[in-house]
Amino acid sequence: MRLLQWASLGLVTLAAADSNLTHESRNILPSVFKPPQHFRNVNLVRNINLDKSYAKETINVVIENIDKEPQSHYYLPFEPGTIGRIGAVEVKDKKNPERGGFVAEVTELDPYSPTEFYKITFPTPLKPQEQLTLSINYYSLSILNPLPAQIEQTDKQYVLYSFSVYAPSAYVTQKQKTKLKLPTTDVPDAVVLPKSLNAEGKEDPQKSGTTYTYGPYGEREAGATQEASVRYEFTKPLVHGKLLERDVEVSHWGGNVAVEERHWFTNRGATLKNHFSRVAWQASSYYNPPTSALKEFRYPLVVGSADAYFIDDIGNVSTSHFRSSKREATLELKPRYPIFGGWNYSFKVGWNGDLQSFVRRITGSSDGYVLKVPFFEGPKQAEGVEYERLVTRIILPEGAKNVRFETAVPIVSNSTGLHRTFMDTVGRTTLTLTAVNVVDELRDRDLVVIYDYPSAARFRKPLTIFAGVLAIFAVSWVVGNLDVSIGKKQKTA
Ligand SMILES: *[C@@H]1O[C@H](CO)[C@@H](O)[C@H](O)[C@H]1NC(C)=O
Ligand SMILES: *[C@@H]1O[C@H](CO)[C@@H](O)[C@H](O)[C@H]1NC(C)=O
Ligand SMILES: *[C@@H]1O[C@H](CO)[C@@H](O)[C@H](O)[C@H]1NC(C)=O
Ligand SMILES: *[C@@H]1O[C@H](CO)[C@@H](O)[C@H](O)[C@H]1NC(C)=O
Repeated sequence: MRLLQWASLGLVTLAAADSNLTHESRNILPSVFKPPQHFRNVNLVRNINLDKSYAKETINVVIENIDKEPQSHYYLPFEPGTIGRIGAVEVKDKKNPERGGFVAEVTELDPYSPTEFYKITFPTPLKPQEQLTLSINYYSLSILNPLPAQIEQTDKQYVLYSFSVYAPSAYVTQKQKTKLKLPTTDVPDAVVLPKSLNAEGKEDPQKSGTTYTYGPYGEREAGATQEASVRYEFTKPLVHGKLLERDVEVSHWGGNVAVEERHWFTNRGATLKNHFSRVAWQASSYYNPPTSALKEFRYPLVVGSADAYFIDDIGNVSTSHFRSSKREATLELKPRYPIFGGWNYSFKVGWNGDLQSFVRRITGSSDGYVLKVPFFEGPKQAEGVEYERLVTRIILPEGAKNVRFETAVPIVSNSTGLHRTFMDTVGRTTLTLTAVNVVDELRDRDLVVIYDYPSAARFRKPLTIFAGVLAIFAVSWVVGNLDVSIGKKQKTA
């Protein structure tokens, strides 16, 4: 299975929360659950990157097993209501990032319990008194809120980010700090905490350019929180995808891989105080100033993509450009009007690719094939794009079977079924994968699908078409032999 290496197997196993709170992939814990106090956080540094319209958090923590037995489950708590907005939780051994096997999965208490947890399982148990440095990464979606919530069309936009300066922890933390990386130095408000909280009695936060550091703080108990917030300029759209549906249709017969993506976007930015003025918009567009409106999408595609199309829900756009060369393929989409805060925009795009670029026959196997495609594509925006829910369907030819897959995108569910279209006899084998709370930073991660496509099935399509042609021929032959000619009759009359 050398081909499986395509799937970046070095990556840790993943899991994620479903924003919709279905219980599909969750472990339910008893409501009185409190994580056993097997660990102590010796030193913790939390980095929150706010360059994009979502927050990217990295917690680097030295943990120590303070129990008498080896332990392999570490819990990460989230406040009520936040876990449904957390995505792509990935854990690594900071000192040995190549070491895989860390599993992060959501565990849920009963609905009335205030705290929810991610359970992190180590590849091997940590012995008593031993230390391990975990690097925990995740994204928080819908986390920035425009303040003021309403602005003029040409105003700057400011957003509020609220957080706790103590990292979420189910254990005692001996030492910690939280570093915020802001996209700007225009920061009208940043909560200043009393020096008495700071372990070094320093001004809190410490500012250095666009970095704000809260802490260091001394020993804090499990679950300790200290609220803070920053408000800073972010005159960019807050691009939020409510749903992305992606279909990848593989045709061995046509030598083609057809992709279609359907998007439902909303701009979470500040809403307009007054009506949209196209005149003011046109006048300012000459200078191309920063704006909280979403005015274009750049959609890089796999090199070699062809026949791109674009349809928005109004049925058209003012402009879309598709450029394809040997080095790049890009689709540029400009909605007919700028999408301001609170407005929605949905559209679909599609394109074709060569089968050979995505599908290979497995060496030494007569029926085995492997498909490698991006799990999702979607636009690539400077301000970032977040997706609440992403459903990818791989539509394989009729008769394909024994479907297996591998992906580095955290998924919450998978299923295989049949999808029937025109001229199909049994229906096409379809793999459906669902992910929640993903961001555009994951857009280059691959999905590898392995399947068998027996030769009998491979010839079913041509045979079906041949049978269809025969039937048409037979019908036209019969019809051609009927004497339906009125003219002839008239002649003989
Ligand atoms: C949650 O997901 C289920 C199945 O995936 C769907 O039937 C239901 O409508 C969803 N609910 C919401 C509130 O989105
Ligand atoms: C799209 O817009 C162009 C120019 O505005 C127009 O010529 C064309 O007919 C429109 N197409 C559809 C499908 O509405
Ligand atoms: C955007 O879509 C949401 C639901 O998806 C809806 O509640 C809201 O009213 C829509 N906004 C506009 C301006 O149409
Ligand atoms: C696919 O779903 C099944 C249950 O429906 C689950 O047991 C299995 O682990 C899932 N596979 C992956 C790779 O997530």
